[in-house]
Amino acid sequence: MHKRDFIRTLGAASLGLLFGDALWARYAALPPQELAQDEAFWERIRRAYLITPEYVNLENGYYLMQAQPVLEAFVGHVRDINRQASRYMRTRQFDDKAAVRDRLARMAGVPPAELIITRNTTESLDTVIGGFPWQPGDEAVMAEQDYGAMLDMFRLQARRVGIVNRVVSLPLDPRSDDEIVRLYEGAITPRTRLLMVCHMVNITGQILPVAKIAAMAHAHGVQVMVDGAHSFAHIEFAVPDLNGDYFATSLHKWLGAPLGAGLLHVRQERIAALWPTFADLSKADDDILKLNHTGTHPVHTDLAIADALDFHEAIGIRRKEARLRFLQHYWTDRVRGAPGVTLNTPADPARSCGIANVGVAGLAPAALADALFTRYGIWTVAIDGAGVRGVRVTPHLFTSTAELDALVRALRELAA
Ligand SMILES: Cc1ncc(COP(=O)(O)O)c(C=O)c1O
Repeated sequence: MHKRDFIRTLGAASLGLLFGDALWARYAALPPQELAQDEAFWERIRRAYLITPEYVNLENGYYLMQAQPVLEAFVGHVRDINRQASRYMRTRQFDDKAAVRDRLARMAGVPPAELIITRNTTESLDTVIGGFPWQPGDEAVMAEQDYGAMLDMFRLQARRVGIVNRVVSLPLDPRSDDEIVRLYEGAITPRTRLLMVCHMVNITGQILPVAKIAAMAHAHGVQVMVDGAHSFAHIEFAVPDLNGDYFATSLHKWLGAPLGAGLLHVRQERIAALWPTFADLSKADDDILKLNHTGTHPVHTDLAIADALDFHEAIGIRRKEARLRFLQHYWTDRVRGAPGVTLNTPADPARSCGIANVGVAGLAPAALADALFTRYGIWTVAIDGAGVRGVRVTPHLFTSTAELDALVRALRELAA
């Protein structure tokens, strides 16, 4: 990324002001791993966010606040569309949305005709689960550590159609990728039709070897649906690398788009068999837009996805991933092995990135989250289920090492 691009995309009034030419040239030349540890650089990025002084937000996994340039652009879209009203909807809405979709498709590395903009991962994955041409007795495979809404959607198909759900439980520190692949394979039978797998498990931050799992599943004739809620715009990959049939994410998470933005990718040859949730019979069976008929919706949100992409691309996914992994290890390395502290995140650095989960002996997860917030002003979320007991800690680009020092101190005191 050249400095000029950085400024063009973010506007002279925003991030561009934070870097002079010479300074940016110096930063841009640094390898991402080195830049990841340069607090002065990230302090400038932090200034692009309006951060509450009331508490330290280490729960950015639910959704990510918009950076100020994105927020300002979003508000501009709200005003603009309010002014143009139905004329906008009747003349420009669909072309504008298609242009944003094209940019997302480029980022995802998929053909635009295989991608739709949705409201979130839930809508995207449930569109697949609910629209899958299930027959009674068909089977699906998933993990206990998958997201609750999707697990419920599979349970709904069990009630409604009579499918059978087979649920595995993921080991946090597998000896190898193969152990995980074999675990999923053990749940496959001749009746299995669909396997759901998280790219990054939300409660532990564990990154799964999705491409290997998908290769195994395909060898058994099983389709693969990837929950990428936490991986997209967090770690570097292209959707086809994962080798799945379906991929979904929420853009209000790691991309920092406004709330209510997500995407669904369906491989072209899988589109025709899916039943839409909401009918739009004007679309051909193999047109992915048949899955995207949600009626009149907040189009300004769709537009602001492009602004979030500008911000994300200006920083660059390699720099972002390196910083997020650095931040996670900054604090986990300081408490891993400390008496009374349990990390519920893989020890292998390749199996996690920004998200980690920590438990303290003698404190229920809710009590730990409460103590962190009320005594130390640190906001996290309690996780108590699927074999995971602790609080999830999710820093972001604006998180400073000083804030993580405070977390480390708090954990050590609480564990003592
Ligand atoms: C792994 C995973 N999948 C799906 C979702 C659902 O995301 P959304 O609520 O944006 O639809 C989440 C939300 O946290 C998640 O962590």
